[in-house]
Amino acid sequence: MRRREKLITDVLIFVISILAGMQMTTSICYTFFPENFQCSNNIAKVPIEPFIEELGDFQFNPGPKKKLVLVGVMTSSQYFDTRDWAIRMTWLKSIPGDVVFFIGNSTDPAPPGMPLIRLNRVPDNVYPPQGKVFEMLRYLHENHADKYEYFIRADDDVFIKGQELGSLLKSLNSEEKIYMGHYGQGVPEEIGKLGIGKDYLYCIGGPGVIFSHVALKILAPNLDNCKGDTATTHEDTELGRCVENYLKTECKSNKKVRALFYQNYREVKGTFNHELGKKESHAFTLHPVKNSSFVIRLALHFKDDEIKWLKRKADTLRNELEMVKRGMTSKQLKRLSMPMMKYLHNIEYFKRKHEPKKASVKFWYDTGDDTAQWEHIEMESIIPWQIFIRHQTGSECEKT
Ligand SMILES: *[C@@H]1O[C@H](CO)[C@@H](O)[C@H](O)[C@H]1NC(C)=O
Ligand SMILES: *[C@@H]1O[C@H](CO)[C@@H](O)[C@H](O)[C@H]1NC(C)=O
Repeated sequence: MRRREKLITDVLIFVISILAGMQMTTSICYTFFPENFQCSNNIAKVPIEPFIEELGDFQFNPGPKKKLVLVGVMTSSQYFDTRDWAIRMTWLKSIPGDVVFFIGNSTDPAPPGMPLIRLNRVPDNVYPPQGKVFEMLRYLHENHADKYEYFIRADDDVFIKGQELGSLLKSLNSEEKIYMGHYGQGVPEEIGKLGIGKDYLYCIGGPGVIFSHVALKILAPNLDNCKGDTATTHEDTELGRCVENYLKTECKSNKKVRALFYQNYREVKGTFNHELGKKESHAFTLHPVKNSSFVIRLALHFKDDEIKWLKRKADTLRNELEMVKRGMTSKQLKRLSMPMMKYLHNIEYFKRKHEPKKASVKFWYDTGDDTAQWEHIEMESIIPWQIFIRHQTGSECEKT
C-alpha cells in the first residue's frame, strides 16, 4: 500500500517538475526575447495557411457546367508590373476560360484587380519554380478540379493564343488522361540523369503544359510525394517524373504539336525580337518572351494576322453569296438551310427598304418539317426580329 502511495507521489512530483520546468523556460524566453517569443514551440506549431486567395472581382467558374480551361500562370512578385501586366493587357483576354496568377510566399502587395493565389508553403523567388508547380496543381485540384475541363501550367514569359488553344482543346476528350505539350528528353548531357526512363518523353515547361481534369485527379494524391522526392532541381522534368510514375503516360505530342507549342531554342533568354514569320503565325503558344514590350509586339502582330484572315473570309462569303443569288431558282432554294434563307432574306429586305417603289419580293422558307408545304410570304408582312408569316390560307402566326 505504502509503495503504491509512494509511486503516486513520485509520479505527481515528476509531472509537477515538468510543468514547472516548462513554465520556467517560457518565462526565461519571455524575459530575454520578449518581442520574439519563439523559444517555445507553440508558435511554430500554428499551421500556416497553405494558400491565400486574392481574387478581387474575379470569380472561378461558379456554374455547374465545366468551363473549358483554367490557365495557371506561375510567376513571382518581382514580375507583377512587367510580365504579368503584359499578360493582362494581351493574351489573358483571349483565353476561352480563366487565367489566374500564382506566386510563392511573398507578401508584396499585388496590383489591383489581378487574380492572385499566394502559395505560402513555397518560396517566391526561387527558379526553377519546382515547389510552385506541385503546390499550384494541388491547389487547382483541391478547389477547382470539377469546374474546368482542362488545366494549363503556364510560365509568365509565354505568349498564348487563346482562340487557337481553345480549338485544340475542343478537339480533345477531357475524359481521357491527357498530359500534352512540347515533348523533350532533356539536354544530351543530362539524359539518363533526370530520374526518368531513358526514352521517356516529358512535356517541357516553357510553352505550357495541358492537363485534362481526369489527369489532374489521378496525379493529385501523389503531388506531395513528388514534391518530397525529387531527383533534380528542375521543374518540368520533375513534373514529368511524377507523371511517369503516377499517371503512367508520356507527353502527348509529336512533331506537329511541338511546332504548335513553339519553344525558341535559339534564344532561350530571348524575346522573339526577330522578324516574325510563318512559324510564329502557325504556333499556338510561344516561349520565351522575356521583355514585356515584345509581348505587346506579338499581340499586335497576331491581331494583324487575324484581320487579314477575317478580310479573306469576308471576301469568300461575299463571293458565295453572289453565286447563290445568281443561281437562285425556286428549285435550288429548297436545298438551302433556314439560317441561310433568313440571311439572304435580311439582305434583300434591307436593300429594298430604301426602294419602296419596287414590287414586293416573294420569299420562301423551309419550315424544317419534311411534310410541311413551302409557304409563301410577302415582304410587307415581315418586320425584322419579329416576323409575321402570312400563310397562303390567310391565317397568321408569329415567328421570331
Ligand atoms: C518564404 O519561405 C522561405 C523559404 O521557405 C523563407 O526563408 C522565407 O522567410 C519565407 N518568407 C515569408 C515572407 O514567409
Ligand atoms: C525591352 O525592349 C525595349 C524595346 O527594345 C527596350 O527599350 C527595353 O529596354 C527592354 N527592356 C528590358 C528589360 O530589357
